[in-house]
Amino acid sequence: MTGPFKAVQITDDVYWVGAIDWAVRDFHGYLTGRGTTYNAYLIMAEKVTLMDTVKAPFKDELLSRIASVTDPANIDYIISNHSEMDHSGCLPAVIDAVNPEKVFASTVGAKTLKKHLNIEREITSVKDGETLSLGNRTLTFLETRMLHWPDSMVSYLGDEKLLFSQDGFGMHLATSERFADQIPDEIMEWEAAKYYANILLPFSPILQKLLKRVTDMGLQFDIIAPDHGPIWREDPGAIVTLYAGWAAQQPRNKAVVVYDTMWGSTGLMAAAVCDGLASGGTEVKVMKLRSAHRSDVATEVMDAGAILVGSPTMNNNLFPTIADVLTYLKGLKPKHKIGGAFGSFGWSGEAVKQVEAMLTDMKVELVGDGIRSSYVPGSDILDQCFELGKQVSERLAELDE
Ligand code: FEO
Repeated sequence: MTGPFKAVQITDDVYWVGAIDWAVRDFHGYLTGRGTTYNAYLIMAEKVTLMDTVKAPFKDELLSRIASVTDPANIDYIISNHSEMDHSGCLPAVIDAVNPEKVFASTVGAKTLKKHLNIEREITSVKDGETLSLGNRTLTFLETRMLHWPDSMVSYLGDEKLLFSQDGFGMHLATSERFADQIPDEIMEWEAAKYYANILLPFSPILQKLLKRVTDMGLQFDIIAPDHGPIWREDPGAIVTLYAGWAAQQPRNKAVVVYDTMWGSTGLMAAAVCDGLASGGTEVKVMKLRSAHRSDVATEVMDAGAILVGSPTMNNNLFPTIADVLTYLKGLKPKHKIGGAFGSFGWSGEAVKQVEAMLTDMKVELVGDGIRSSYVPGSDILDQCFELGKQVSERLAELDE
């Protein structure tokens, strides 16, 4: 098949042949407000090589883009850097369509692909540091276990100083442009930060080791080609520097106030906490959970020094949206945060203690006691909320010094 889709040339021999998913808005619980892309790459070396595939429904788009460069039947090798289904979902169908000489994956990936996709075809496992000759080109594989799956690896085309970085340095962003330098910086930085916060943050210590290893190896990158979003070709070091900063998790003088409210009382408390924080010069983001998504909260929390959580009590429990966001944040293992809890109740009032227990479990250092309001908060309770915000702001300023 040829079809309407065209490849985009990246270097003399490398082409982008992925798919653009303009419509996706939920990526396993992550709000993909700008859609995403599933990137795959074709290396027109003596051994024609396909780097990753795409999500299953986009197989024809992939094959069509390949066909704009060469007959897909000419593909000799397929490399799978990561077996999550957004990159491997159509691998069985592509193997059937192309009948490549060999399929390669990391040692863990070779097993995972079989478990996921029931692939009968032999998958050749490659070790960390192993090279593969493509005839006139050479690929080097580096295992990146737990960045962000156990099977993950990246592939480096040394001849072109081109890193195929799979999920790393990527973002969920559907665009007609293929290169980062064609897209406004503020969009790139927000979506890259969102991707890091929601996918890679728990593995920051592993990422720091990888960055050191790559530096020690003296690997240089002219181009970083991830599996989602635009390709970095101008100053690819900039995204590496951003990653190093996010991985360090140094808190800023910034606080996120996350809350939900049933009849507005916890909302009033959130507003007073915000004013207290702002009075001390802290940058504040207030996020009400029925208008803010958990993945956007995670993005704001990543570089914040404090998180303050407000929950009404509902049927002896914290409010469900608060349980959702705290469960989600706990899994992302944010570090170096201080925080506090507040909330209104009618007759039992367990939520604030439950929020404090969850924050403590996340190793958030609590500042002051949680504030509870019986029904609608009066000025005394709102003053306490203001003071809580002010106290947190003072602590953040101390940490900033
Ligand atoms: Fe884009 Fe971890 O898959």
